[in-house]
Amino acid sequence: MKKVGLVGWRGMVGSVLMSRMVEEGDFSRIDPVFFTTSQAGQPAPNFGKDAGTLQDAYDIEALKALDVVLTCQGGDYTKDVYPRLRAAGWNGYWIDAASALRMDDDALIVLDPVNGKQIQEALANGAKTFVGGNCTVSLMLMALGGLFEQDLVEWVSVSTYQAASGGGARHMRELVTQMGILRDEVADELADSGSAILELERKITEKTRSGDLPVDNFGVPLAGSLIPWIDSQLENGQSREEWKGQAETNKILGIEQAIPVDGLCVRIGALRCHSQAFTIKLKKDISIPEVEKLLAAHNDWVKVIPNDRQQSMDELTPAAVTGTLSVPVGRLRKLNMGPEYLAAFTVGDQLLWGAAEPLRRMLHLLP
Ligand code: HSE
Repeated sequence: MKKVGLVGWRGMVGSVLMSRMVEEGDFSRIDPVFFTTSQAGQPAPNFGKDAGTLQDAYDIEALKALDVVLTCQGGDYTKDVYPRLRAAGWNGYWIDAASALRMDDDALIVLDPVNGKQIQEALANGAKTFVGGNCTVSLMLMALGGLFEQDLVEWVSVSTYQAASGGGARHMRELVTQMGILRDEVADELADSGSAILELERKITEKTRSGDLPVDNFGVPLAGSLIPWIDSQLENGQSREEWKGQAETNKILGIEQAIPVDGLCVRIGALRCHSQAFTIKLKKDISIPEVEKLLAAHNDWVKVIPNDRQQSMDELTPAAVTGTLSVPVGRLRKLNMGPEYLAAFTVGDQLLWGAAEPLRRMLHLLP
């Protein structure tokens, strides 16, 4: 049984990972060792198996005793500990949620329903470093995998609608606090159904602009608004989140001749589901039933939603998808631009397939 060190298990992604591992009975298949950055020596959590005490996450000797490190601790931890651990001669498997190592030549981005073959090849060739992909990229590939697999995609233009959770736990709290303050501001107007709607809106707008809303995490109000920028600014005008779209997609698919993937990434007031609208230029004109068949057959989690108003409203929203592993894709129709231009819309839980799930599955793909 592999000795697996779990780092960052208490954070948001880590907590989702732990709960998925409990649900799937993963702890019965590993010998877990829990690490901490602040509470070494205290009792380890018991997820159905006694794991003794918490170990120091910066203790290279303790980490060297492991077969696998699975970390959700974040990029700073990875940048600090990973090189020191490798330099100390450790040759175990490093599985990471953070982006720090993603584009390293010796790291593979893991999303096994999409690149399971590449993962098996890499393992056979002695690869030891495996990193989860960016959430929007992983969710796009889970949704559109059937088209990429058949080499039908010439390019993809995407507009994202990304949830607060992508920023972190504090961002989610900030969004809900903003929502509550705005709601309280117009409590009287809401109680009186005859009150003037433009007066209600004026008060909300005034409060939004007053500087009273907490914005320590997002920088500007998000509730009742949106933010058309995610992550840092690059020289070429893209946001780093937008840059990842093409870079990671092509790395995951192992494609030599890059498929262009680009668009605008936007933060909206959803809690933990990212949504994405695509314009896909197909390499050839294939019918919508054929597209639906290819998409549906690709993996066990994608679900094709017929391009019907009520079904889209019922099944293709963050409200419907949050907390599930389902990756619905719908609004499939040919655009006015021509028969090779396909519209699609997908929604996915960014903490599940977007973060925790590919990592826990990678654990079980190790030889
Ligand atoms: N960068 C993503 C976001 C989350 O901010 O929504 C993690 O992939």
